[in-house]
Amino acid sequence: MTDSPKNNPKELPALPSSFSLVSTLGVVAMISGLLVVLVYEYTKPIIAENQRLATERAIFKVLPQASSRLTFKVSQESIKLVDDKTKGELIYAGYDRHDELVGVALNAAGQGYQDIVKLLYGYVPATGCITGYDVLKSTETPGFGTKITTDAAFLANFDCLEATVDQEQNGLINVIKTVRHGTKKNPWEIDAISGSTITSNAVGRMFNQSGQKLHPLIAGHLSLLQSAKSLKRDSHGQPN
Ligand SMILES: Cc1cc2nc3c(=O)[nH]c(=O)nc-3n(C[C@H](O)[C@H](O)[C@H](O)COP(=O)(O)O)c2cc1C
Repeated sequence: MTDSPKNNPKELPALPSSFSLVSTLGVVAMISGLLVVLVYEYTKPIIAENQRLATERAIFKVLPQASSRLTFKVSQESIKLVDDKTKGELIYAGYDRHDELVGVALNAAGQGYQDIVKLLYGYVPATGCITGYDVLKSTETPGFGTKITTDAAFLANFDCLEATVDQEQNGLINVIKTVRHGTKKNPWEIDAISGSTITSNAVGRMFNQSGQKLHPLIAGHLSLLQSAKSLKRDSHGQPN
């Protein structure tokens, strides 16, 4: 009868040393870390390009009369013409074929039912109206919060949601707010979607927050926004 390894401890395979265990683990961790960095570096420009294209599409969706647009950076009290690679708080001015300003596309974000909802919305300084929006990011519940993109009655709020700047250019004349479904009385109120009041409220809050800050700044720099396109065309020697 042959001895089993149990009966003969000399035949047991030798256990690897702690050093070789730790060094193998270290090599695996290093390779994994390197792979993560490589994938991140590889996908970063692709993600950035996709985001740029999504923003580009959204700008022309919320400013349908625009045939071209320029990017401006907002800081404290100023608005400056910049190129598309600039980081920071950006706004987009849309122009028609005659280089007339047709409106401005602005970012807005706020807490919804599930998470932060991000929108790009169209604002027409000449009329003081918010005229529509595109959802850039949302994880709201299908059939509830997602109705902000499909509910015709809700979208009708933005035929012209009043967001006019006060005379002192300190803020909006009226606070934009969402009201319970069926109780809207004023053009600066948003009639909520019944059963999706939380997401509807988020839309009202984010428009008010963005409007109170950005619309006065736009009013204060309106001539820059209005003339930027034709000035840029002239400086490039292009015919008007
Ligand atoms: C599973 C589930 C998901 C929901 N998702 C949302 C949502 O994404 N947005 C929203 O406004 N309400 C959502 N609700 C409904 C809210 O809980 C709440 O009842 C509603 O917003 C209130 O609207 P009402 O006052 O018009 O009834 C959800 C409810 C449930 C049960």
